[in-house]
Amino acid sequence: MALYSEKVMDHFTHPRNVGTIEDASGVGEVGNAKCGDIMKIYLKIENDIIEDVKFETFGCGSAIASSSMATEMIKGKSIHEAMRLTNKAVAEALDGLPAHKMHCSVLAEEAIKSALLDYFQKNNIPYDENDFPNSEHAPQCE
Ligand code: FES
Repeated sequence: MALYSEKVMDHFTHPRNVGTIEDASGVGEVGNAKCGDIMKIYLKIENDIIEDVKFETFGCGSAIASSSMATEMIKGKSIHEAMRLTNKAVAEALDGLPAHKMHCSVLAEEAIKSALLDYFQKNNIPYDENDFPNSEHAPQCE
């Protein structure tokens, strides 16, 4: 079996939603301290719906594929649905990642949560701190 699924290769070679949003409602940036990869997510939110999402990822192919897939999965969805997106769901949507690359999908989940946290804080929207357990800490390589 190939190391990477066709979907991973597709999203790596043709990533969706790459770029920035000038007047983003929320921006989140996370980094992996060990590999040095960085992911930045921009959200445009209107009436609790994610109208647009863009990403910039300086990192490995799995991180780029995970960002691309994660942005596709939350686009047009409510912020509540986006909050529930897990790295496992992103990896499954990519038809799996090699075990030693699972942490790359964590970066996508964390970056989206970080952008949502930024949106909540900017708009004085109450949130549960337990939903952002890692907001102070960069995810670690496994
Ligand atoms: Fe660093 Fe993939 S190796 S995010």
